[in-house]
Amino acid sequence: MPVHEPSAPVPDPGVEEHLPRWTDVDQAAADRAERQVVTMFLLVPVMAVLFVLAYYLIPRDAYVDFGPLHASATHVALGLTLGIGVLLIGLATQQWARQLMANNEIVEERHPGHSPADAAEDAMTQLTVGIEESGVPRRKMLIYTALGAVGILAAPALVLLTDLGPVAGPNYRRRTFETTLWKEGIRLVNDITYTPIRPEDLEIGQLVNGVPENLKDLTGAEFNDAKAKAPIVIVRMNPADIKIPADRKDWQVAGILVYSKICTHVGCPISLWEQQTHHLLCPCHQSTFDLADSGKVVFGPAARALPQLPIKINDEGFLVARSGFPVPVGPSYFERDSRNDLGQSGEYR
Ligand code: FES
Repeated sequence: MPVHEPSAPVPDPGVEEHLPRWTDVDQAAADRAERQVVTMFLLVPVMAVLFVLAYYLIPRDAYVDFGPLHASATHVALGLTLGIGVLLIGLATQQWARQLMANNEIVEERHPGHSPADAAEDAMTQLTVGIEESGVPRRKMLIYTALGAVGILAAPALVLLTDLGPVAGPNYRRRTFETTLWKEGIRLVNDITYTPIRPEDLEIGQLVNGVPENLKDLTGAEFNDAKAKAPIVIVRMNPADIKIPADRKDWQVAGILVYSKICTHVGCPISLWEQQTHHLLCPCHQSTFDLADSGKVVFGPAARALPQLPIKINDEGFLVARSGFPVPVGPSYFERDSRNDLGQSGEYR
């Protein structure tokens, strides 16, 4: 029966009527549920063994195709075996809890979160007495040597940190993370289907994720490395809405602009597109870039604009890169923000 205390805004609905489950009233059903749970748990080690076998036995250069998707066979096998294993644990646990564990409703009244004053005082007294009895305040040398012994352990840790070096110099950076697959004439293709893109494929307001066409020629680690740097977003806007600086006049085609998809904060892939404002929002820490204004940062922690990829149309009517990215893509780091020595051709001057 609901109880309505005058001080409570709504009546206490009380505990619902308890209805027994089918496994409470039928022992055979309970046994069946138990067998299901046990079977699911027993399948988990099978998945674990398959995971280990897949890791060692599937060649790293083996790929599988699901329609337009071209994926590493090892990744697919590892994902499936581990995913199914975790799913089985979840399903078994849920079945166990719902069908077999005790099914009693219990009401626990709330109690004050703090301890009574006398209990808190008692605890402080015990702490003070404990410190006194330990002799620590009298044996200062013990304390100093203990702190020194722990502190000196920072030295091995610092030595290990040197393994992170040597510092990547300009030449190393240019060969690695400052270079992408983009260069003059490379076609822009859809990142899922690898279909080349023509200007008429895009409607005003539309955003498409893309990659360079030559990405599909790579495999394994080389593919992953290149794919981490090369993704782009291709947007079509009303040309009247775009602010185009004089030195970027020929970087776009009929209101189609292309930017790196890698956030310049710490490198999350971005594609939350606000068609009305022309803003692109990074889901990681909400950096927001204005794609109608050279990819400038309008909000958030990113320190520099999204790099823009100059594009043009080739003889067959497809969108192609006019050059590589004029500036490095990805997160800003050390002196990158002060680097202005990249020509529009994508070559370093
Ligand atoms: S990575 Fe994009 S805002 Fe942090």
